Amino acid sequence: MMKLGVLGAGRMGREIVAQIAAAADCELAGLWIRESRTGTDGALGALAGGKLGSDLDELARRSDVLLDFTLPGPTAAIALAAARHEARLVCGVSGLDTTATDALQAAAGSIAVLYDRNISVGVAVLRELTAIAGAALDTSFACEIHETHHVHKLDAPSGTALKLGEALAASRGRTLQELRRDEHEAARPGDIRFVVRREGDVPGEHTVRFAGRNETLLLHHAVSDRGVFAEGAISAARWLAGRPPGLYSMRDVVRVRAE
Ligand SMILES: NC(=O)c1ccc[n+]([C@@H]2O[C@H](COP(=O)([O-])OP(=O)(O)OC[C@H]3O[C@@H](n4cnc5c(N)ncnc54)[C@H](OP(=O)(O)O)[C@@H]3O)[C@@H](O)[C@H]2O)c1
Repeated sequence: MMKLGVLGAGRMGREIVAQIAAAADCELAGLWIRESRTGTDGALGALAGGKLGSDLDELARRSDVLLDFTLPGPTAAIALAAARHEARLVCGVSGLDTTATDALQAAAGSIAVLYDRNISVGVAVLRELTAIAGAALDTSFACEIHETHHVHKLDAPSGTALKLGEALAASRGRTLQELRRDEHEAARPGDIRFVVRREGDVPGEHTVRFAGRNETLLLHHAVSDRGVFAEGAISAARWLAGRPPGLYSMRDVVRVRAE
């Protein structure tokens, strides 16, 4: 049985805990919450089978893999604790600063770390297809990345939209910084325009659009249920088992599958 420690008891953390309970090959090592919240939420305690706690080192020591779905604040401390106790780490937190990404990189020197701003397998494939299309289509095709998410989402464009933009820019030997344009900015040939919408409870939709003079190519991915991210996080944890130290992403997962 693989012992999974879950960090963050929000929408994602709760869904992951529920899916671990239903998986035959995994067990919950614990659910990490703020000290001020321990003992305050009976429903959460029941979901975690009483395995709630705020001691990061203790959870890392008991876990084969830690799954970080908190907000950007604690990620650097989580990476340090994972490395200290030789637990592997899946991090899905978006909007990380360089202190946190440097901490993930440093931890990857001694443990296997998988970091991805979108942990769904479908989006990892979409990223590969976007890079192929970006390299194959010339700059006469106007490129747009459209994303729609629920109204609670704080970052815009989404981490996934930026990741797709980075893959597209790199496929043309450029950086996203050079090519990024927002919806109402004038675009030059080769620029990448981002179109962002926040609506209702939409879990996540991304479309990469290449519009030529006489043809249009649309690459589209839609999430119908947030459970897909919990499934992705658990399958990433399974994939990390037995991997040598290093920094991986869902791109590595789909590349290995496609080989
Ligand atoms: N990679 C992906 O595919 C993917 C998909 C969906 C979401 N995400 C990311 O996953 C994260 C969680 O998403 P969500 O929708 O579950 O958000 P959420 O509902 O806001 O939950 C965030 C959780 O993190 C906890 N947290 C934040 N700072 C903490 C700290 N210092 N110590 C302990 N707990 C802390 C919060 O606890 P409190 O309630 O006590 O503040 C809350 O339980 C976000 O970063 C989101 O961007 C990634």
